[in-house]
Amino acid sequence: MIKTVKDVDLKGKRIIMRVDFNVPMKDGVVQDDTRIMASLPTIQYILDQKPRSLVLMSHLGDPSKDSKKAQEKAEKDGKPFDMDAYIAGKHRMKPVAEYLSKKLGKPVEFADSCFGQKAKVDSLPEGGILMLENTRFHKEETSKDEAQQEVLAKELATYGDIFVNDAFGTAHRAHASTATIAKFVPVKVAGFLMEKEVTYLEPMVTNPPKPMTAIIGGAKVSSKIAVLESLLKNASSLIIGGGMAYTFLKAQGHTIGKSLVEDDFITTAKNLLAAAAAKNVKIILPVDHLCAETFSADAKPVPVDGLDIPDNLMGMDVGPKTIALYKEIILASKSIVWNGPVGVFEFDAFAKGTEEVAHLVAEATEKGAVSVVGGGDSVAAVNKFNLASKMSHVSTGGGASLEFLEGKTLPGIAVLDQK
Ligand code: 3PG
Repeated sequence: MIKTVKDVDLKGKRIIMRVDFNVPMKDGVVQDDTRIMASLPTIQYILDQKPRSLVLMSHLGDPSKDSKKAQEKAEKDGKPFDMDAYIAGKHRMKPVAEYLSKKLGKPVEFADSCFGQKAKVDSLPEGGILMLENTRFHKEETSKDEAQQEVLAKELATYGDIFVNDAFGTAHRAHASTATIAKFVPVKVAGFLMEKEVTYLEPMVTNPPKPMTAIIGGAKVSSKIAVLESLLKNASSLIIGGGMAYTFLKAQGHTIGKSLVEDDFITTAKNLLAAAAAKNVKIILPVDHLCAETFSADAKPVPVDGLDIPDNLMGMDVGPKTIALYKEIILASKSIVWNGPVGVFEFDAFAKGTEEVAHLVAEATEKGAVSVVGGGDSVAAVNKFNLASKMSHVSTGGGASLEFLEGKTLPGIAVLDQK
């Protein structure tokens, strides 16, 4: 088990803490504070232990990649683009520091670089907080060159005696501030958010309460095959929904009309179906559909009562018979892991399947099942239907929760001390 902030003496110590404050920003204003609020208990606990100082660090988008993309888009649309204004509004950490300061009711000082802050850290008042600028303004943060990454990691390590990692959402990145820093700090522990994420996610890949149902949706088989294979080890039922379901239906010989398909993954889909059959894992694919002629929010929904989809239509959501199947399986589960929507829930006309899944998982949870929701889109779905509080755990990680469920060792967790 990983050590947490509770396992070490923080009094009088200098703490350097990685958080995942990669929050959506618009014109320098925080749009969604879920990730900030999720790390608040750890920050508050650390402060209550009377440390010498607390230095916080995070990335906030990827300034070089994101700004290039935004510039290209503006050029394509023939719109003016102000690079400095874009970066200031999207990637500068100062507004996040100010936001945190309001939430804590305490000053949070700000440093506009991750380098050269030792004197500033040393001059903080007792228990003072300093937030560093976006770590990804420095190429060393994400560098593939170990020596270059170590330059930043060593510098960050001079700001703390204890490294606290509460950035579950970034734990799948082997970066200077998430993992490499641990080489240069003697004590490295998890925060409460990191601990909670691991506590809920780990049993799903090791020994979940049974029967376990995995609901895996989303557009592409290619991005979900590893998680499907991993969850197959413990699941009693695997619900496969969303765009990726049509590749599976095609693999079974059904017609799928104009639905999303990855022809390169038909063999992969067939292999997974065979592996599930060999292990006696029930695979639940859609048995009826809600289709449309075009992929758009105002497309007319066309019910298709059967597995095969006519040539002029594409699958957009599951139909009522499929939902009835889901009900039977989900309500009989003792544990449920959900990653990815089962339909185009962003379009209201095609949201019913995903909404029903959210309600069913909430109902199963109320009856005593453990439910874990991970992945950006399914989290967005439970939020859209106001059901997040009804789940046992809603992960703050997108890529991180997916990789965890794939059974991978996440670098930001692997570097922490064990107890
Ligand atoms: C996320 O938003 O999933 C995390 O903050 C990680 O961000 P990244 O994909 O840019 O590394």
